Parts: sequence; structure tokens; C-alpha cells
Amino acid sequence: PRKVIIDCDTGVDDAMALSLALRSPELEVVGITCVAGNVELEHVIRNTLTVVELSGKRVPVYAGAYRPLMGAWETAASVHGRKGFGDLEYPEPKIRVEAEHAVDFLVRAFLESQNDLDLITIGPLTNVALALAKDARLASKIRSITMMAGGINAGNSTPAAEFNIYADPEAADLVFRSGIPLTMIALDPIMECGGIYVADVEDMEAAGTPWCTLVSRLLRRNLERMKIIYSDNLRTNPPDLLAVGVYIDPSIADCEMFHVTVECRGEHTRGMTLLDRRMWARAMGLSAKPNVNVVKTVDNLRYRALVVDTLTAH
Ligand code: BDR
Ligand code: CA
Repeated sequence: PRKVIIDCDTGVDDAMALSLALRSPELEVVGITCVAGNVELEHVIRNTLTVVELSGKRVPVYAGAYRPLMGAWETAASVHGRKGFGDLEYPEPKIRVEAEHAVDFLVRAFLESQNDLDLITIGPLTNVALALAKDARLASKIRSITMMAGGINAGNSTPAAEFNIYADPEAADLVFRSGIPLTMIALDPIMECGGIYVADVEDMEAAGTPWCTLVSRLLRRNLERMKIIYSDNLRTNPPDLLAVGVYIDPSIADCEMFHVTVECRGEHTRGMTLLDRRMWARAMGLSAKPNVNVVKTVDNLRYRALVVDTLTAH
């Protein structure tokens, strides 16, 4: 299995993504780091511990940054519920968060690694930026980062900016400039090809394991909310789940390298991810070197099969 650390702000779709990663035989999740984002850090930690407990796996969970680098941010409690878990209630988890800080863990784990450890980020990039700022050796030790981050043509928090970037643009900027091999799963392929359908939820419900029950309950809640957007409610597109799906099986994704910058200042565009799509400039050597592997489309049938098969296998 490939070794990976997951940085998250659990979060309804983070819970699905973590469950998929924890149950995947392809991955060895060596640690999970929590960051403030969708909800406040204390809720993120508790939700993450609950997901790990229900997965039946033992993976250490670390508490990280309680606010973005510049301080101000708005949670997405309107999307994820006040405590970040939809409106689901679970008892207090029995497992505990580690004493070591998430940023220290990231630095230690990657420096100790044999260049065989990847990172998946499904929240704001605050922890990763702090770790990069803390130790100059880190950037060359992170084999790759797969991120649910940004938009190609549009945002969600604002018309221009996607939540994970908008919550901490300065942190994202640092990561995008780091030189680490980056794969970006933006909102566009998620909305266009990242659908999970009612039939998939029914398969998980039939499996009835604690992790399938958790994921299917969260998906049912999303499907209900999707009635606002679609006339039917046959599908939902959880962003973070697709990021983990693409990490598990990159062959489901069609990608292209682009130079991507993070807008930190714009009056209407703060937090925007700006792709340089000027083919003529690239051909003439006038554009900056591409730094991000951008996922353009995904094979939805294979993605759905990956999610359902992984979660329903015992
Ligand atoms: C991202 O922001 C959060 O709402 C989700 O968990 C996902 O990581 C989508 O913009
Ligand atoms: Ca998230």
C-alpha cells in the first residue's frame, strides 16, 4: 500500500473521504491532521475521531491550526451543520487525539520518511503552510500533495474562490509556490463528473457496516439538500471524496499541467486559483513553468465503482 497523511477539516464530505481512505487496501494512512475550516477545530477533531473509530482502523489523529494564517475566516457551518457533521449525532468518541501538534507531526513524519510518503489535503492549507515555514527541508521530502482545492472556472465561497483556498489564501499561496508535485481536484470536475447516486447509497446501506452506515447517512443528508439545486435528487457531488478517489486510482482522471497562482489581494477575487491557459504563451516560452497537475475530467462510472466496492468490501 502507498503511505499517506490526510489533512482535513471534517466536515460532511471529509468524513466520507476519510472513510474511503481508511478502508482502502491500496493505502496505508499513517496519520490524520486536523485544521480549522468547515467548522471550528474542536468540532473537526471530534468528528475526525468519530470517523476513525467507526472505520475500525487505528490511525493517530493530530490537532493543528485553530485559525488561518491571517486570522479571519468564516466557517461553512451552513453547509456542514453547526458541528460539521450534518445534523447527525454520534456519542463522544472513545479514542483520543495525540499530544503532538499536527504541524510537528507533519515535519517529523516527512523528514523521517524515505521519500515514500504522500499528502492529501481536503481542508484549508494552514497546517501544510506552517509545516513548510517551520522546516526548510520539508518541501523536498513530501513526495506529492493531492488537494481538493480551487476552481478552474468558478468558486463556491465567492463567485471566484473555492472554500479551502478562500479560508486561507496566504497558506495556499505558499503551498502552490513550494515546488512540491501538486495534483489539484477543483470544483469543476467534481460538479461535472464526481456524482454519487442513490443506487450507490443503497449499496452502502445494504452493507450495513459502521463506516457504510456513517457515509450513507451523510450522503442521504446531502441528497436531501440537493433538491434545492436539482429538480430530482438522484445524485450528490461530495468534493473531498473525489480527491481521495483520484489519489487511490489516478487512472480514473484525465489531467493537464498548468501554472496556477493564488490571488491573495483582489477586491472580488481573493482566494481565486488562476490558471495560465494561454497556449500561445506556453508555446513561446513566455508563461511560468506549470506547477500543478490539474484534474480536468474523471470517469464517473469507475469512480463510483471504486467508492462502492471499497466501502462495501469487508
Ligand atoms: C471544500 O470545502 C468544504 O466545504 C468541503 O469539505 C471541501 O473540502 C469544497 O469547497
Ligand atoms: Ca473539507
